[in-house]
Amino acid sequence: MPVITTIDDLKQMHRRRAPKMFFDYCESGSWTEQTFRENTSDFDKLRLRQRIAVDMSNRTLASTMIGRDVAMPVALAPVGMTGMQCADGEIKAARAALKFGVPYTLSTMSICSIEDVAKATKAPFWFQLYVMRDEEFVDNIINRAKHAGCDALVLTLDLQLLGQRHKDLKNGLSAPPKLTPKTILNIATKWSWGLEMLQTKNRSFGNIVGHAKSATDMSSLSSWTAEQFEPKLDWGMIARLKEKWGGKLILKGILDVEDAKKAVAVGCDAIVVSNHGGRQLDGALSAIRMLPAIVAAVGTQTEVLMDSGIRSGQDILKARALGAHGVMIGRAYIYGLGAMGEAGVTKSLEILAREMDLTMALCGKRDIADVDRDVLLVPKDFEGDWA
Ligand SMILES: Cc1cc2nc3c(=O)[nH]c(=O)nc-3n(C[C@H](O)[C@H](O)[C@H](O)COP(=O)(O)O)c2cc1C
Repeated sequence: MPVITTIDDLKQMHRRRAPKMFFDYCESGSWTEQTFRENTSDFDKLRLRQRIAVDMSNRTLASTMIGRDVAMPVALAPVGMTGMQCADGEIKAARAALKFGVPYTLSTMSICSIEDVAKATKAPFWFQLYVMRDEEFVDNIINRAKHAGCDALVLTLDLQLLGQRHKDLKNGLSAPPKLTPKTILNIATKWSWGLEMLQTKNRSFGNIVGHAKSATDMSSLSSWTAEQFEPKLDWGMIARLKEKWGGKLILKGILDVEDAKKAVAVGCDAIVVSNHGGRQLDGALSAIRMLPAIVAAVGTQTEVLMDSGIRSGQDILKARALGAHGVMIGRAYIYGLGAMGEAGVTKSLEILAREMDLTMALCGKRDIADVDRDVLLVPKDFEGDWA
């Protein structure tokens, strides 16, 4: 067993264990992947301020997210096809999050259904909704999430249309994988993934198949998405969905100050500053660069969370220092899941927590609640002078 000390160690194990089409699905951005790359490289431009001779004992990362107590201000982001990275992946990730004391978000495009996850975890989780053209399906899935006891709806607003990811098209991404000579050859080298997959019944889109009339052939995710996702989604529709849901609402995929103000006007418990991990508008600015302006505009009116690019506890600390109340992580936990299942997600969370805790201490802080702009050195042009 290798000694695992970083999120990157888990990524290398994930790459070796999962079929290529699923690892590539995780490790892609859209088009040139500029935004995907800058989501992480922009974190590196921020530096931390070392402080000394301060009492560093009795530290805490405990916080809250939309009123819920959390062990650290980190939620697991919704990730489609998680159950293809590892058999029953959504259940495993939800269990690891629950044990660690952080929220888990189940994607509309998950493999295990809302009901599967609710039955296996017996604890509330967040449910992420993609708005489809089929209104009856949307009404039903909102009711299913309520019935399962989901305690927040995460409404994703940055994917009315799918940003093109070249690798997915070239690999013929599908769930379950289509058995072509190329995929058979690849899967033959991934025997531990395959053995586990043979033991589960969850191998296609559990929230959709059997629930949406249109879900007869979902084998091409990209063409199915193009046909089914609601391209007319607007603020009026968001207001109606908010009413229909009636519970805590998180609006995800906001990258612009004007949109953040509209989100606050429509009413929400939190927004997630995000560019979908660089998977949608290639050429958009990184989420960490956009964060300070959005916090300045709406930070006193709603909880501002951020995601896209977090690969370490230092990154979480930097986001917090720039005003994010908390963060969501996507790939950072999927690597763990793809590497080692539930234990891998726990490992990811432990790595992030430890890095955050020690770094906070070396910056002279003992409580995550006290981490602010003071711990950072920010280059003058960080936010950019864009015309
Ligand atoms: C493989 C993959 C699938 C994703 N699927 C969804 C999804 O179904 N719904 C959603 O709202 N966001 C989805 N996202 C975006 C994540 O929720 C999150 O915004 C992103 O992963 C954050 O960037 P990071 O991976 O750099 O942390 C997905 C991201 C990845 C990597």
